Amino acid sequence: MMRLDRLLATLALGSRAQVKDLIRQGRVQVNEATATNPALNVADTDRVAVDGQHLDTRTRRHLMMNKPIGVLTAARDRRQPTVMDLLSPLYISCGCMPVGRLDKDTEGLLLFTTDGQAAHRLLAPQNEVPKVYWARVSGCLTAQTVQRFAEGIALSDFTALPASLTILEAGPDESVAEVLVHEGKFHQVRRMFGACGHEVLALKRLRFGPLTLDEALSPGQCRELSDAEWQSLLGEVAFRA
Ligand code: URA
Repeated sequence: MMRLDRLLATLALGSRAQVKDLIRQGRVQVNEATATNPALNVADTDRVAVDGQHLDTRTRRHLMMNKPIGVLTAARDRRQPTVMDLLSPLYISCGCMPVGRLDKDTEGLLLFTTDGQAAHRLLAPQNEVPKVYWARVSGCLTAQTVQRFAEGIALSDFTALPASLTILEAGPDESVAEVLVHEGKFHQVRRMFGACGHEVLALKRLRFGPLTLDEALSPGQCRELSDAEWQSLLGEVAFRA
């Protein structure tokens, strides 16, 4: 249950004062009857309309974004664009937040949810949710690097868990690979390659748990997850949190 004025404000129909006016003007209907009391409690199953147009009243939302390069994963930044600037007001006012972070120069799959607890579980190190990255790196990747990734790489402050490196192209100057990791520490993939003498020139996240980046999304675009996608993601962390 939620107060009608709060629901309308959460659905980004205006400030609390503006939606109260809408209600008092008799422009809001609940289950086909005009509702003039802003404090009316509405349930998930109630049908709410404004000027006869039915609203999608879901306040729990889950999204995937194809994060573009050059955008911070942060709530707000006074100087630089953030992923929040790319969300429509509806998702902001529903309280969607990014699930973890990608570096400013990393692109690809970034999830958002209004479910803070689920986000917490998806990020909990003990749940080891797998993530797959595509990387273009300097130098020639060899079987030796594959071996080092598989053994787990000692970094200055922690040892990265064993990861699987698949070489897609190995040239004398640059190589391309996919990396499967089970953790998400700061700059992890860049640091793992760095420890093996390869600079990461481009990095894109392709997978998070069971979800694959929707290639129909151009950089900066996002779409809602289907129920099946969200459930598959929750399945990834069920009974393990
Ligand atoms: N590893 C990195 O180094 N950067 C990212 O953005 C994600 C994983």
